[in-house]
Amino acid sequence: MARTSRDAIAEIKAKLSMVDLARRYVELRPMGNRLVAPCPFHQETKPSFSINADEGTYYCFGCQAAGDIFDFYGRMNGMDFRESLEALAEETGVELPKFQKGDAFAPRQVSHKQEMMKMHEIAAHHFKQNLQKSEIVRKYIEERQIAPEIVERFGLGFSSDAWQALADIFKRSGFNLDIGVECGLLMKSKNGRYYDRFRNRLMFPIRDVNGRTIAFGGRVIPALDDGESAKYLNTNGTPIYKKSQQLFGLDVARRSVTAQKSIMITEGYMDILTLYQFGYTNAVACLGTSFPEEQVKRITELSKNVELLFDGDNPGREAAFKACGKLLVKGISCKVVLFPPEDDIDSLLKEKGKEVFENLREKSTEGLNFCIQTLKKRSPKDAVEWSREFLGQIEMPELFQPMATKLALGLGIDEAELRLGVVEQKKAQNTRTLNSQPNETGKAAAPKKKTMDADILAVATRYPHCLQALQEMGADLALELPKAKAYWDKLLQYSEDEILAFLDNSEKSFWVKCRSADAPPRNNEEGELEAIRYLIQAKQKKSYVQSVVTAVRESGEDSQKAYLRALYNNAREE
Ligand code: UTP
Ligand code: MN
Repeated sequence: MARTSRDAIAEIKAKLSMVDLARRYVELRPMGNRLVAPCPFHQETKPSFSINADEGTYYCFGCQAAGDIFDFYGRMNGMDFRESLEALAEETGVELPKFQKGDAFAPRQVSHKQEMMKMHEIAAHHFKQNLQKSEIVRKYIEERQIAPEIVERFGLGFSSDAWQALADIFKRSGFNLDIGVECGLLMKSKNGRYYDRFRNRLMFPIRDVNGRTIAFGGRVIPALDDGESAKYLNTNGTPIYKKSQQLFGLDVARRSVTAQKSIMITEGYMDILTLYQFGYTNAVACLGTSFPEEQVKRITELSKNVELLFDGDNPGREAAFKACGKLLVKGISCKVVLFPPEDDIDSLLKEKGKEVFENLREKSTEGLNFCIQTLKKRSPKDAVEWSREFLGQIEMPELFQPMATKLALGLGIDEAELRLGVVEQKKAQNTRTLNSQPNETGKAAAPKKKTMDADILAVATRYPHCLQALQEMGADLALELPKAKAYWDKLLQYSEDEILAFLDNSEKSFWVKCRSADAPPRNNEEGELEAIRYLIQAKQKKSYVQSVVTAVRESGEDSQKAYLRALYNNAREE
């Protein structure tokens, strides 16, 4: 029989183990019978990333990333399955068979998201080249004292005044221009012409944690300004850019953040560049003053020590106050460095120097103290309300007492009364929650229907050779959710060796979890199948009883008695 892609995959896996591959990127150490490390796919210091050497898979308990060597290599290098298959085949010297038409492993059509990423890569390159050509922009960069290494490190560029420079490039390369519009690089006029969204701006690429450009921020250049445009034009939310989740500069700062165990947070693009230039390499920007919950969550995963370097003006102070509240309730310790009202960290470092910054840093205010100082300027009623709400959100019980005491002392209010207010507020919240079950959107959610889909799929995943036995007992027909049925079909279609290439991320993590070293050992096939058989029968019985009950309701009195007698006898026999 001719060699197939499936054979090649098995050969590559035999030559390159999951452990050896992961070792190139992370430091593995044994923990129990597993090998663990801090996860390379999300920032953390504790070792949530775990390898199952027998299975040749990895799994992260933190971010749920999961897969085999091809998946790991692909994530590390921004490749799709096909690309990492080719790369690892070459590395291990395994020859790939020629792809037939209809071969599941043949290069698939690039997805829209991949096309958007590619367009951003091209755009970043194009903007960089423009920058080299523009005297005016280079002069502006000089005026702002941005060093050439910084321009290079952060990939700065320039979007020229041409209306269709990018649109033309995309068109020539055969891209779908509507996708260009969807990802925020192009606009479409009423008469159907495509044109560039960013023009005459200094361009800051916004990159994901792996350094891939997914959005842009463009700053007005004073010498080219028409006086009517906003200072910054940014990519709005797109399929590849969720603004509230990204932190500008994280790709550059991540190593430093881990090494120094602390992170600096600023408002703006320029602040990050300047900090880096002055040797502060652990800084990220939240791009504005809002600091949404998702960014807060990211920060908590990155570091437990935060320094807030917000602008010295009123909006900056207000933003720092809100940020402190959000971080402190999560158990993150934070400090606020206070700048003069006319400064941000960028102007401060450049105009007053590093020493002045270091002095301010030394005098920085601890987060809760900063909140107290801010609250003292408000009405006592507002201060108490804020404090109660804050205390009610504290996630670590051991922090409640010391923070309540500190707030009460700082604000000169009675601690017992303050705390009582929190209890009452919580009680009121709890009754609200119980009555309405609000979900994320605030609307009352329908209670989740319990299915046995996951139980069935778990056994099917653990013992793929039992699929037929499961089918015989009606397990596939018992699946209820469309997603469960789709997963079942994949289990039928693909072998254990190749299936990971065809699963989406949540399926992958389910698959790996079911077979991980922490799952029960896979040596009780009979018992687990039996449990499923029992579940299915119980369900069938329930629907049988239900139909009898319905029939009884709809029938006359005589036959009701007969039914009930039959049911009673049936129950006695069991
Ligand atoms: P700032 O107005 O403080 O700008 O806004 P900046 O970063 O200090 O820039 P320079 O020094 O004047 O060149 C802080 C951040 O708020 C967002 C940007 O992310 C900016 O970096 N912002 C500001 C916008 O998105 N749009 C705007 O029009 C202004
Ligand atoms: Mn600023």
